[in-house]
Amino acid sequence: MTWSTHQQDMLREMGIRLWLPPPAVQRGPDGAPAANAPPAQKIQSVPTLSAQPNDLASAAFNRSLETALVGQASGVTADKPSLLTDQMDWDDLGAAVSSCRACGLCESRRQTVFGVGNRQARWMLIGEAPGEQEDREGEPFVGKAGQLLDNMLRAAKLTRSDAEPKQQVYIANVLKCRPPQNRNPLPEEVARCEPFLRRQVALVQPDLILAMGRFAVQSLLGSQEPIGRLRGRVHEYLGVPVVVTYHPAYLLRNPLDKSRSWEDLCLAHEVWARRKGMA
Ligand code: URA
Repeated sequence: MTWSTHQQDMLREMGIRLWLPPPAVQRGPDGAPAANAPPAQKIQSVPTLSAQPNDLASAAFNRSLETALVGQASGVTADKPSLLTDQMDWDDLGAAVSSCRACGLCESRRQTVFGVGNRQARWMLIGEAPGEQEDREGEPFVGKAGQLLDNMLRAAKLTRSDAEPKQQVYIANVLKCRPPQNRNPLPEEVARCEPFLRRQVALVQPDLILAMGRFAVQSLLGSQEPIGRLRGRVHEYLGVPVVVTYHPAYLLRNPLDKSRSWEDLCLAHEVWARRKGMA
């Protein structure tokens, strides 16, 4: 396979080391390498596609999520979102999130983390929940995982910065409050928070959603399948195409899977280009 310069830049930004064919060796008349020939390139392997991420807890999580969605008392369910939330504009939604006390996470949060970026963005990125730094700063993905995400965005010619509104994405999480000690979100917390995300998606009306990590993916798609099996296909949330990929924090721990997440970004770009072509 040959990589275009843009693809090579993209891989490099994500910290993926490329194997490139060695340049043709210049040879002298006797067939031996010429004295000024460049040294042979050290071979670095592209990761293989055999390993699967560890998605062990997913089935149990989703069974509990279904129960929570069906059983919660607030009248808010995945199928029947809160009528109130569904009517909200950005200001009302922001106020509702920051004053939300629908689950126990409100007791331990420093502040809610609503979302960031262009409210008319064409790409919407959805993660899991704020971590410690996000809880402190009030913005999604500002920690180490966020730095990797910014590199990935840059490689895909996207940004969270409002300096380039056309390339600017919108980033939000499934949960708006930090789970204590960054524990996994509970199904009931996801169910309580989901109407806020639904409304954000409805207000942004993106062309494409990139769902990052098991919790975001399985919550959005209502699926129990592991990410490894959901990748490489186009799904849908509220009528918006969804491409699934690994969470940046997972990629920090499993850098070999960065090549797969790059494939996911390529798929997202393809889907987006097709949508733009149709518009
Ligand atoms: N991980 C997430 O899923 N979201 C954040 O905002 C930070 C880390």
